[in-house]
Amino acid sequence: MTNVVDNIYDIFAKGGKLDTVTVQRAAFDPRASLLSQHGLAYHLESLRGSEQREVLLDFALTEGNLLNNYGVLKLEPTRADALILSHGHLDHYGALPDLARMAQGKWKPGLTLYAGGEDTFCHCVVVTPGGTVDQGTLDRPALEARGIQVLLARQPMAVVGHAFVTGQIPRVTDFEKPPAAARLMAGPMDSACAASHFRPTKVEAKAGDLVADNFQGEHATVYHVKDRGLVVITSCGHAGVINSVRQAQKASGIQKVHAIVGGFHLAPAPDEVVAKTVAAFKEIGPDYIVPMHCTGMNTIMAVHMAMPRTLVMPSTGTRVVFGA
Ligand SMILES: [Fe+2]
Repeated sequence: MTNVVDNIYDIFAKGGKLDTVTVQRAAFDPRASLLSQHGLAYHLESLRGSEQREVLLDFALTEGNLLNNYGVLKLEPTRADALILSHGHLDHYGALPDLARMAQGKWKPGLTLYAGGEDTFCHCVVVTPGGTVDQGTLDRPALEARGIQVLLARQPMAVVGHAFVTGQIPRVTDFEKPPAAARLMAGPMDSACAASHFRPTKVEAKAGDLVADNFQGEHATVYHVKDRGLVVITSCGHAGVINSVRQAQKASGIQKVHAIVGGFHLAPAPDEVVAKTVAAFKEIGPDYIVPMHCTGMNTIMAVHMAMPRTLVMPSTGTRVVFGA
C-alpha cells in the first residue's frame, strides 16, 4: 500500500521492519520532491499466488501533485487493474478527470471505477462558519466517455479478485455522525441527485437546495491478508471508521483486523468522540493503525497514548508492506 498523496510529508518519519509489517519511506530528493496537499491517493498492489494486481484508490486534489508523485514513486497509473473512489469530495476525486483524459486509450480494456453510490456524482458543498467550500461535481458521463466503466457497488463486491469494497456502510455505532458541515445540492426531482434519494425525512427539497449529506454512498476498501487479517482503508471515514471496520468484518465474515488505515475524519471531533473511537479500536484490536489525511493530531496522539505499538505515522510516499 503506497500513500501517493497525503496531507503530511515528513522526510524524517521513521521506517523499517515492525513486528508484522515493513514501513518504507521514500528517499528525499530535493530535485524531485514529493508534494503533499489536503488530499488523498493510494496505489495498492497485491499478490495472490503468482497473480499480481494494481488498484488506484482515490485521486488527490490536484493533478499536479498526483502526477508528480506517481512519477517520483515510479508508479505507472495506466497499469491499474481497477479504480476505486471512496466518495464524492474534491480532495479524493480532484485529479481523476485529468488522469482519465491523459490515460485515455492506455488503460486496460474494461477498466472499472468502483463508486459506492449515486451521491458520489452529486454536487457536494461544505458549509463552515468561515464560508462555503464548493466540492464540485464529478462528471460521470465524462469519465465513461474516456473509456472508464463506472460501477456503483452499493453492496460488498470483490475487486479484481484481490480486494473488496464494503458497499454502503450501516451506522452501527451511536457516536459516529456525519460531519454537520457537509451538504449535498439537491438535483431535479427525477434525477439521481434528487433529495428524496438522500434524505431520511419526507421533507421535499427543490433543485438547488442544500440538504444534509449523510454520505450514503461512501465505501471502504479492504484486503484480507493471508495469516494476518483484514486491512481496512477508510479513505475519509465520514461514515465512521468503526462503522467501516464493522461492515468490513460483516461483509467478509472475518473478525481479525490486521490494520486500520485512515483518514478517520476526527480532526474536528469532540474529545469524547475521539475517546470512544480509541476505546473501540482497543476492542477491535488491530495490529496496526495508520491514521492519515483528515484523522487529526488529536486522534493520532490518543492512539499513541493508548496503543503506541500499533501506530504507523503517515507521510506522503510511505509504502506499507503487509503480509511479507
Ligand atoms: Fe477527505
